Amino acid sequence: MRTIVITGGISGIGKALADTIRVAGDKVITVDLKDADVNVDLTTAEGREALVEQVRELSGGKIDGIVANAGLAAPVAATIGVNYFGAIATLEGLRPLLADSDAPRAALTTSMASLHPNDEKLVDLCLAGDEEGALARAEELAADPQTGGLIYGSSKAAIARWIRRVAPTAEWAGGNIPLNGVGPGVVFTPMTADLTATQEAREGLLEMVPMPLNGFMEAQVVADVLDFLISRKNTHLCGQVIFVDGGSDAVIRGDSTW
Ligand SMILES: NC(=O)c1ccc[n+]([C@@H]2O[C@H](COP(=O)([O-])OP(=O)(O)OC[C@H]3O[C@@H](n4cnc5c(N)ncnc54)[C@H](O)[C@@H]3O)[C@@H](O)[C@H]2O)c1
Repeated sequence: MRTIVITGGISGIGKALADTIRVAGDKVITVDLKDADVNVDLTTAEGREALVEQVRELSGGKIDGIVANAGLAAPVAATIGVNYFGAIATLEGLRPLLADSDAPRAALTTSMASLHPNDEKLVDLCLAGDEEGALARAEELAADPQTGGLIYGSSKAAIARWIRRVAPTAEWAGGNIPLNGVGPGVVFTPMTADLTATQEAREGLLEMVPMPLNGFMEAQVVADVLDFLISRKNTHLCGQVIFVDGGSDAVIRGDSTW
């Protein structure tokens, strides 16, 4: 039986993945602010330490997969704290517990919002590992309604670049651990409930997030791709973000990635 840790595991995409893994007969350790197996705030140093301690206890010191999926989409500094620094603390803090797995895997949930305009200074501070500086920059952006919306996309662009930088290194590829992400388009979860509530809101959202293939999706669609990323079958994907976005990436970036 495999043991998989999922942050944000009690809601939306994380819950859909947790249910899928349980049905397949494997064990899930959910992590969230409350109502999970491990209840911690991933924006704080204490929460990140408690995460590692409690997962070690609950797993007996051996896990097979980590899914850093917890996230916040609000125009506030805490969005950087959980989406970027919390995700890295999860992946790096729990990586030693993968050492005894015969098929260790790691994945995270980024977003097609990584393709939206972002704040270069904030992305650079994240990638430099300067959490204090990044939070201060995010506070500045949050103070102005014109720029607060840049925080989410910046957190997701930074984490997508971080995956690409570290996945091929000795710690991850060298430890036989595929590290990859999914980049969802709009998914029906509590995070987007207000944004998808009315026809007018949905139309406005589709202008920012074009999804010509099948439109908005249920959480299970993304959960199924994460399930593959952490499965035994995934042996060679390294540092990739798989866009599960109904076509946003293809529409927005076109040829530019190649
Ligand atoms: N819903 C979408 O359209 C969409 C699109 C692209 C990416 N995503 C990403 O998918 C991931 C899952 O989001 P979802 O849509 O399932 O939303 P959700 O709100 O249903 O789930 C997110 C979970 O993360 C938890 N969380 C937030 N801050 C936390 C913290 N500080 N510490 C611990 N847990 C915390 C929340 O409590 C919640 O249970 C997020 O990273 C989100 O950015 C969502």
